[in-house]
Amino acid sequence: MADLTTTYLGMKLRNPIIAGSSGLSNSVKGVREFEENGAGAVVLKSIFEEEIVFEYEDVLKEASAEGVNLDQFDYYDYQIKGEKLKKYTGLIAESKRNVSIPVIASINCVYSHEWTSFAKQLQDAGADALELNMFFLPSEFDRTTEEKEKAYFEIVEKVKKTVTIPIALKISYYFSNLGPMIQQLSETGIAGLVLFNRFYSPDFDIDKLEVVSSNVFSSPSDLPLSLRWIAIMSERVNCDLAASTGVHDGTALIKQILAGADAVQTVSALYKNGKGHINSMLKTLEAWMGKNGFNTLADFRGKLSQAKSSNPAAYERVQFMRYFGGIN
Ligand SMILES: Cc1cc2nc3c(=O)[nH]c(=O)nc-3n(C[C@H](O)[C@H](O)[C@H](O)COP(=O)(O)O)c2cc1C
Repeated sequence: MADLTTTYLGMKLRNPIIAGSSGLSNSVKGVREFEENGAGAVVLKSIFEEEIVFEYEDVLKEASAEGVNLDQFDYYDYQIKGEKLKKYTGLIAESKRNVSIPVIASINCVYSHEWTSFAKQLQDAGADALELNMFFLPSEFDRTTEEKEKAYFEIVEKVKKTVTIPIALKISYYFSNLGPMIQQLSETGIAGLVLFNRFYSPDFDIDKLEVVSSNVFSSPSDLPLSLRWIAIMSERVNCDLAASTGVHDGTALIKQILAGADAVQTVSALYKNGKGHINSMLKTLEAWMGKNGFNTLADFRGKLSQAKSSNPAAYERVQFMRYFGGIN
């Protein structure tokens, strides 16, 4: 039998499939079902920065210790939502009691840094690692690229000072200089990068003349974006890489490992096919490994990364010249 184990964020996973953050991992029952159906690890549904409790006294204490002029603060901006926090740390603790696979907590970060002290409470609740889902849509016209990009590094630095558990950063591809940005983020001492997040996007209803939600779920045709960037970056980063978006079957899982991924996250495919789909993806992986004489993931991980590929230019080809040029 093939050895499917992998190491991600310093943790040994029984296999590379991670149930990504979603409503499916928002309950202990859901987490337990992921374990029963073969997942190597699970990322809990994110707690959103807006939901995070800011203890009034803690904020005061911290701000005054840092010499901040307290008059500059409007403390009423801080939302006191203790119940949400309690519920989330309860989900972590209870999940940990119920499963033996790693449980990764997730925070959806916007811009403010003040919530970062809260990360420690997720660690104390027993989270094995922390995934920071960080994204600022580059549509704000009053902040420069540098300011926006600096925020990522500042948040990582703050959270790193707060927790000792491994940190993964789940990012988007909306960067003006994506390759170097991924590389620089990987040098910050984080344990892993998740490439890439998928976002809620607007669509239009032309009968009602309304803005509606576009497809919430990805499709298999979304795979090539993360595949390209895992392949380009896998030999160039100083942390683990998890591939995310468009992984709908065992073939996509194999491709991401060939590109160099240490682990692979999947969500939409599990909404569409049920949690049992994890096992069928693993079966495809095992059968393929057997057919190709691979005993471990290390035997083929990164074989088609840009660095190892016999055709590295293929990853940088972006125009369809060959397909449209010269067609008569
Ligand atoms: C219904 C739904 C809820 C999600 N909630 C979260 C979330 O709370 N935090 C997060 O980081 N990602 C969330 N995601 C994004 C997924 O974790 C994942 O990155 C994205 O769906 C791309 O992977 P996929 O192609 O396998 O679906 C959600 C996705 C879906 C479909």
